[in-house]
Amino acid sequence: MSAAPESARRPGTLQRALRQKIPARLRDPLRWRQATGIVLFAYATTHLLNHALGNISPDALAFGAGIKWAIWDNPVGTILLYGSLAIHIVVALQSLARRHNWRLPGTQIIQIATGLAIPIVLFPHIVATRGADILLGEQVGYDRLLAEIWPAGALLQTVLLTFVWVHGCLGIRQWMQTKPIYPRIAAALAAVATAILLLAFTGFVAGGRAVVANGPTKTPIPQEVFDASQATRLAVIASLAILILYQVLKPIIRRRRRRVVMHYDNGDGTTRAVVTARGGTVLEASRQADIAHASACNGRARCSTCRVLVLKGHDCLVDPPNAGEAALLKKIKAPPDVRLACQYRPSRDVTLRRLVGAGEIYDAATLADPYRFGVEREVVALFADLRGFTGIAERWLPYDVVHLLNAYFDRVSRQIEAHGGKIDKFMGDGVMALFPIGRQSERSAREALYAALKILQTVEAMNRENAAEWEAPLRVAIGIHGGPAILGQIGGGTHGPLARTALGRTINVASRLQDFAKAQEAALSVSADIVELAGIPRDGAGHRRIAELRGSTRAIEVVVFADAASLASALAMAEAPATLAAGGNAVVTTG
Ligand code: FES
Repeated sequence: MSAAPESARRPGTLQRALRQKIPARLRDPLRWRQATGIVLFAYATTHLLNHALGNISPDALAFGAGIKWAIWDNPVGTILLYGSLAIHIVVALQSLARRHNWRLPGTQIIQIATGLAIPIVLFPHIVATRGADILLGEQVGYDRLLAEIWPAGALLQTVLLTFVWVHGCLGIRQWMQTKPIYPRIAAALAAVATAILLLAFTGFVAGGRAVVANGPTKTPIPQEVFDASQATRLAVIASLAILILYQVLKPIIRRRRRRVVMHYDNGDGTTRAVVTARGGTVLEASRQADIAHASACNGRARCSTCRVLVLKGHDCLVDPPNAGEAALLKKIKAPPDVRLACQYRPSRDVTLRRLVGAGEIYDAATLADPYRFGVEREVVALFADLRGFTGIAERWLPYDVVHLLNAYFDRVSRQIEAHGGKIDKFMGDGVMALFPIGRQSERSAREALYAALKILQTVEAMNRENAAEWEAPLRVAIGIHGGPAILGQIGGGTHGPLARTALGRTINVASRLQDFAKAQEAALSVSADIVELAGIPRDGAGHRRIAELRGSTRAIEVVVFADAASLASALAMAEAPATLAAGGNAVVTTG
């Protein structure tokens, strides 16, 4: 088959006009799949909860069914539900038809497999219920249907429930997992999802038994409803068989189509050519050729880790970015010759370079780890630094310096860990720790402050223990700030396992607050937000300052504590609020 001339592939006037008129987010099939998936998941949840009511009594089951139908069996609910189902199927089939490569992560395979299997059971079920109502005027309610299918059809319904729920939960997981809140609620969501499924199973069994106990139904479902349901099942199976046959034959058909050559520039003077049929994405070509290619969101145009720089052969008019790709490229302010490999389908030979995960830096094993490419998490960061330590290091024997540091770090680390913190790294005479913000952000803030108090008290104790030997007491300066940070694995070469660390403005501010404490001759400076989050009253202990931190364009309000005693009294106020005189505000610059 000859290839169409390139000019013929340029978008037509109507297509261009539609692109200009319709906002990008409305043209993005991924968004449609996601939005309709959420509607269908909401329906599945009400359906399973309805089943779960069977655990209580048949009356509760009927009551739940009434509520469910009140939500969905009205013009708005019906259009929303069946419209979502239709759009979801069309968009999913379109995505499957365009897929050129089936090397996918396990969860995606499960999602596709369950998604394909669901219609085999679901469509006949819809025909036997809504279809019978609309076409035959036959009301097939929950109890009538249960009486007919119990127990012979129970297994099939159970399989349907499981497939729908697994498919939906995986979709919700993919939607949620890029959101900062996800790690905090993932375990709870999984527990709730499992509980709903188990309760739906047991409720279904209890409902079936109750129906059997009531004896045969007085108004059996007409045979023609079952015939229509069975015909639907056969039609769905035939359609799926055609789809699978198409997927099997596609490589053979594609072999006859024009091919494109993707030249991978490795950035070290070497290139590798991958010949592939036109129509596939760059990421599919990479997977087909076993080329390590980062794809943290599994090709959903969410992460940008798959981005490539197209060095030769790029033409935005011939192969324009789709709406999802265009939106993400705009968000990361990518230049015009940077494309997302998971969305970009070159129709001509191209030379490109992977911008993340190129060459040997990222091996295949690390590509599945999102920390390799950074994830955003809420943390409270603590920096603690020994003050005047350089002088000590110059005067003391190296052995004594090492011994002192190890003794200090050992005691401090234990205190940090005892308060839920994690040591991120030791830097010379300093330590950086992170307190993950879980469900209770107040608690994380308070634990970080308690850890700071323990560090200050540890240093005081060490000074007392060594008063006779040390010429001057040790002093420590601490900075604390909280907010979103990028957590990622950093490192390379033959240095061994990569270390996880945190980066970003939150971390920089915490580090600068430590400098600020030093400049103020104070023990601790904390951003006011963290102090308030910890429950310390605004007029509590500590002195408030407006700090203009080095490298930051915004001044922030800071609370400075002179020593362990003032911090201890502030924390005591957080436990049992009282009032203390507030310090005055002053603008101070550090650095
Ligand atoms: S793999 Fe995430 S944007 Fe392409």
